[in-house]
Amino acid sequence: MNKYNFDKVVNRENTGCVKWDFRTRCNEKASKDGLPLWIADMDFECAQPIIEALHKRIDHKVFGYSSNDTKEYKESVYNWYKKRLDFEIDKENIFYSPGVVPAIAALINILTDEGDKVIIQKPVYHPFEAKVENNNREVINNSLKYDGKSYKIDFEDLQEKAKDSKAKIMLLCSPHNPVGRVWKKEELRKVIDICKSNNLWIISDEIHCDLIRNGYKHIPTQKVGYDYKDKIITCTAPSKTFNLAGMHLSNIIINNKELQKKWEFEIKEKLDIGTPSPFAIVSTIAGYNECEDWIDELNKYLDNNMEFIDKYLKENLPKVKLVKPEGTYLAWLDFNEYGFNEIELEDLMFKKANVLFNQGDGFGKEGRGFVRVNTACPLSTIKEAMQRIKDALEI
Ligand SMILES: Cc1ncc(COP(=O)(O)O)c(C=O)c1O
Repeated sequence: MNKYNFDKVVNRENTGCVKWDFRTRCNEKASKDGLPLWIADMDFECAQPIIEALHKRIDHKVFGYSSNDTKEYKESVYNWYKKRLDFEIDKENIFYSPGVVPAIAALINILTDEGDKVIIQKPVYHPFEAKVENNNREVINNSLKYDGKSYKIDFEDLQEKAKDSKAKIMLLCSPHNPVGRVWKKEELRKVIDICKSNNLWIISDEIHCDLIRNGYKHIPTQKVGYDYKDKIITCTAPSKTFNLAGMHLSNIIINNKELQKKWEFEIKEKLDIGTPSPFAIVSTIAGYNECEDWIDELNKYLDNNMEFIDKYLKENLPKVKLVKPEGTYLAWLDFNEYGFNEIELEDLMFKKANVLFNQGDGFGKEGRGFVRVNTACPLSTIKEAMQRIKDALEI
């Protein structure tokens, strides 16, 4: 018997919700009433222990400056990763950032000079490129290789590109958004070896690490690269895991003592980014301490959503392929067999079907002909979206 009802449709309108109230931000062609399966948060209610922790905190009625630099907070993070991933984090090495993306931007500034280069693997979560370029650094693209079914790392290309004397950081997305790969131990080790031999820092964005599809296992980069852990920074957060993105709290794991000092200077002295809100703190503690069964059941629900999409496409739209995700709740759909150009694909989604999916080319030119579908919603929403695509293709 299921304990949680992920089928429940929650009306998120008029809550200042980006996904539903700011739909036109998805794309300039997006309409205000399009069915939104874009930005990566979930349409599910948070788990009850989180709601109760927040109620309790609200009832205290005083919401002054707060800090998560407490034993209770650090233990909740430590215990979660130890139990879930057998990943032992030194509690002293957990640093606060309001988000993973701001942390990546800060780290780029700390670890590189203007004109230096950062390696990314497109198609990839679009802020990676933006944060590099907007901070006057350059992107080196080690494109992932697509064989029509799945994606692999092009290690030969990486080996060559890592030799560039201006290359300073490898920005790894693990699990990978949008292609859904959960990197294997051997793959991670090869990346680490290449970075190690070229003295590159590794920023490992593991924000999706708790959202893993059935049969796969996330392996923290620092665990595989224990011998190189001083040069690996891991970015994690409760945001994707427990649907707490609006709380703005992430945990950045920095082992290198020199870098810790530079981080503190950048975050505190230069930017004056303070401490998390009291709500972020209590909801994170409740999530990590009390919501394991919720995420386990949620992952099963998400597996089922993916299976539905896969089956639906095979039966109704065999020219559209689901790139089977191993992690994340993002479905990466390949429309290339139709031969649409970018404008035609956009028109199909936003004008004919009126569904809001992220267009693949936003993740790099490698994403042309693909769309990214956020499946973290009730199955009824997915069914509606698939039906709309089918109808639109039949017009
Ligand atoms: C790989 C990846 N990193 C970071 C983020 C966002 O992180 P934050 O909201 O903590 O800045 C996302 C959100 O979709 C993501 O997919």
